[in-house]
Amino acid sequence: MTTVESPTAAGSGANATASFRTTEAYHAGTAAVSPQRVSTVVKAVLQGVHQAIRDNDVTYPEFQAAKAWLIEVGEGGEWPLFLDVFVEHVVEEVAARTQQGTKGSILGPYYLPDAQRLPATATLPMREDEKGTPLVFSGQVRDVDGTPLGGAEVDIWQADDEGYYSGFAPHLPDGNLRGIVVTDDEGRFEITTIQPAPYQIPTDGPTGKLITAADWHPWRPAHLHLLVRAAGHRTVTTQLYFQGGEYVDNDVAEAVKPDLILDPQERGDGTNTVTYDFVLERD
Ligand code: DHB
Ligand code: FE
Repeated sequence: MTTVESPTAAGSGANATASFRTTEAYHAGTAAVSPQRVSTVVKAVLQGVHQAIRDNDVTYPEFQAAKAWLIEVGEGGEWPLFLDVFVEHVVEEVAARTQQGTKGSILGPYYLPDAQRLPATATLPMREDEKGTPLVFSGQVRDVDGTPLGGAEVDIWQADDEGYYSGFAPHLPDGNLRGIVVTDDEGRFEITTIQPAPYQIPTDGPTGKLITAADWHPWRPAHLHLLVRAAGHRTVTTQLYFQGGEYVDNDVAEAVKPDLILDPQERGDGTNTVTYDFVLERD
């Protein structure tokens, strides 16, 4: 008999932390930020916290509860989950002020570099019995001036039909529903996959406990994650959502933008099809 471990917050949290520790951004760390910026921004954050304490008459028991919770978030490895759900969307909003072309969205904690490279027309790696409505997602990558970008990379990753990401849930094969699709000479791609399910923040860890304690909901709408890269161009980090899907208007991570909502059509054989083009600015 084989035992299939079910995903836990501790599992996805620890994996998200381990994964972040392999990135250049992690290794750059505080050395990437000048002492002046550290002082200015940290002072502003602390002033915000101080003001919240004054405005709400925060008590010693509440302060100690917060301390206990912060310790648990760190020990559970959940900082990537917490920060990407509750903070990253504003960092993205600031970055978007200077970016032309396709609208961006948050990266989230579940990107893994070095996915399998695939040709322009490709099916994402998936299990033989992968559940979910088949989806054929096609489009073109272009420069802001309209020039098609051949050889561009459409790096795509997504949750499965139960809302789990490979690499962060022990029951899924490595690389499942992840791939780097390389566009053809006309910048085109056609990706066969399945429709993802909405994603639920793990409810059994400290982030989940906070959500329960505050009586919020832990859901993100179903989404595809994308990093679209082309030589000489600024990479677009984004997500695509599904018209009419649950939580599209109520994303816990506040990362939905109207331009990023797909409206797939059923083509008559149970498969949904949709097109979406990506536009990149020169860097
Ligand atoms: C989180 C998960 C996601 O799938 C995502 O796209 C963004 C954030 C999270 O749990 O932090
Ligand atoms: Fe996600």
